[in-house]
Amino acid sequence: MTTKRTLTRWWLAAGVVGAFLTGSVFAANTALADEGMAFPHYPSYITAKDGRSVAPGDWMNAQVCAGCHPRQAAGWRTSMHANSFRDIVFQEEWALGVRATDGAVQNLCGGCHSPVGVLTGTIQFDPEMGNHGGFTAMGVGNDGVFCDVCHTVSGSSWRYTSNAEPGNASLILDPGPVKRATLGDSKSPFHETAYSDLHSRASFCANCHNIFHPEHGFPIEYTYDEWKMSPYAHRGIQCQDCHMVPVATAMRVADEMKRPHDLADHGLGGFAGMGGPMRDLVHDHGFVGGNSVVAEAMGVPGAEAVRAEAIKRLQNAADLDFELFPGKGGANLLKVKVTNTRAGHHLPTSLTFIRQVWLEVEVVDDQGRLMLSSGKLDEGNNIPGEAVKFINTSVDSEGRPTVDPWEVAGFSHVNTIPPKGHRHGAYAFVIPDGAQTFTITARLNYQSYTQELTDYLLGEGVLTVPTIMMEELVQTFDANTMKRADVGQDARVVQR
Ligand code: HEC
Ligand code: HEC
Ligand code: HEC
Ligand code: HEC
Ligand code: HEC
Repeated sequence: MTTKRTLTRWWLAAGVVGAFLTGSVFAANTALADEGMAFPHYPSYITAKDGRSVAPGDWMNAQVCAGCHPRQAAGWRTSMHANSFRDIVFQEEWALGVRATDGAVQNLCGGCHSPVGVLTGTIQFDPEMGNHGGFTAMGVGNDGVFCDVCHTVSGSSWRYTSNAEPGNASLILDPGPVKRATLGDSKSPFHETAYSDLHSRASFCANCHNIFHPEHGFPIEYTYDEWKMSPYAHRGIQCQDCHMVPVATAMRVADEMKRPHDLADHGLGGFAGMGGPMRDLVHDHGFVGGNSVVAEAMGVPGAEAVRAEAIKRLQNAADLDFELFPGKGGANLLKVKVTNTRAGHHLPTSLTFIRQVWLEVEVVDDQGRLMLSSGKLDEGNNIPGEAVKFINTSVDSEGRPTVDPWEVAGFSHVNTIPPKGHRHGAYAFVIPDGAQTFTITARLNYQSYTQELTDYLLGEGVLTVPTIMMEELVQTFDANTMKRADVGQDARVVQR
């Protein structure tokens, strides 16, 4: 509540003083103002080139592009980019934010989820829509992050953000005849083309995949920063190299530590546009991540294919390993090692306080006696409190738990798994008399959101959150080489 009040007050002050010049955190913006650049949609950094005023009709509909770029259109249509504005989970959370901050965060959220809606000032909030309220935009604004958003990006204003990093939609859009990407020698009968080095880089994606709190600058989501410090960045492997190719290719990228162009027989050739020449590598536009829930829940045609690809991505991102040690008394210690083998950033990334990655572990002896059980979902589809989770725990400015992005001021516990790095879950168990062998089963599970949050946002009974098993390891050990229960100690289920 305190955060809400300060943000509201700050917002009102900003409105009076003029756009974005309040507070020391925003000093960088003052410099920018001197250079004649302004952020009329602050706290979003989204701008149209030269500050010109724009209308939804200045951008072309994806249907138009689809005529000559069917392959890109098919991939994009089912992507989270195409659904980033209509996304039902996003809309409900946005509505809560707009209500809690008297509208202060409307442009912030909209700048990335519907850049054209914000730039053209055409987003309407209807408190009667959905569970907590809902939003509509005009024309292409409803299509979220569509072709003509990305391909009319002419630059980034990252130098002028509050922390001199790309983020909070620090993109400059120049809608019009010129479509920008990286072919270099392309000719189209329909539009002009221009080479853009920016489009070949992670720093392009960074403008929307880094989110910092506009008031105190806390990095709420920082996929780009995670990537920048990763072994992938050191080898020049960009976001595009894993997210604009099929998952099977991305797996090779992570294993061989090479960019798709440099993989032998990558098989990604084809036509980039109808009438154009055969190209050595054409980029996928499905932007598959871990979300296998929302597109299907929204009834997006073709969503099953995305679901399968997202599950494949999740099921090839991590490895499990067991380490056993003698513990105190009659106990044995089990460490389950989880390695992030193929994500170019932490696992999970982005909404690290909303996504759920956790271990489910069971130890059973040869007579079927349960010695350890942890992380099993309850009947209500809830992850038990004792489970080892690989997520960040978010708190507000007073240290209270919150998952509302506008309230997040810090992480009380950081436990996501760095790229090519690992973390452990630690457990203890006692081997009962008479056991000859015992079997350990560990599963690494993923849910896009907790059932509790889903019920709160969408209403109860609307969506049962599926659990994706990312990895499973089952191993049987000889009980005779292990510590035994002390005399008189019974087999019992130990919670970590
Ligand atoms: C009438 C056909 C046609 C339509 C409609 C069309 N394009 Fe193209 N586009 C092409 C052709 C042909 C190429 C060149 C392909 C090549 O050289 O391999 C091209 C190239 C491109 C490139 C590559 C630029 C570069 O040099 O890297 C982009 C980006 C692009 N188009 C985006 C779009 C977008 C966005 C739309 C919709 C607003 C669109 N196109 C509509 C035919 C079309
Ligand atoms: C989220 C941003 C984004 C969206 C949305 C998007 N593209 Fe792209 N597109 C890119 C990027 C980035 C590249 C260049 C990738 C690289 O070179 O690493 C690209 C490349 C292209 C190319 C050049 C050929 C190639 O494979 O490099 C064409 C043509 C194209 N896109 C058309 C489209 C069309 C048509 C749509 C909509 C159906 C679309 N794009 C939607 C970001 C986007
Ligand atoms: C800098 C760009 C940016 C801003 C600003 C932003 N978002 Fe997002 N949002 C994203 C990206 C990127 C994702 C996808 C991350 C992922 O899948 O882990 C996302 C995902 C989400 C999701 C999850 C949707 C789903 O279906 O899983 C919710 C909810 C959400 N955002 C709410 C908000 C709210 C509320 C705000 C404003 C307070 C906001 N976002 C501001 C870029 C942004
Ligand atoms: C204009 C802002 C914008 C740009 C530029 C952008 N994204 Fe996104 N991206 C989003 C938003 C917003 C979402 C989340 C939509 C949602 O969940 O509702 C998203 C979702 C995604 C997802 C799906 C996440 C999931 O949970 O499945 C991936 C993967 C992704 N983006 C990769 C990229 C890559 C790679 C680039 C650069 C080539 C890029 N994006 C550029 C805004 C952007
Ligand atoms: C080496 C391959 C690789 C690279 C490079 C890479 N990613 Fe990913 N990405 C993955 C894998 C694997 C997953 C699924 C596991 C996970 O969620 O972390 C993923 C998941 C995601 C998600 C969804 C996270 C979630 O669980 O909600 C987003 C968003 C995303 N990536 C964006 C990006 C952006 C932006 C970049 C560049 C800054 C990038 N990725 C670079 C492999 C990669």
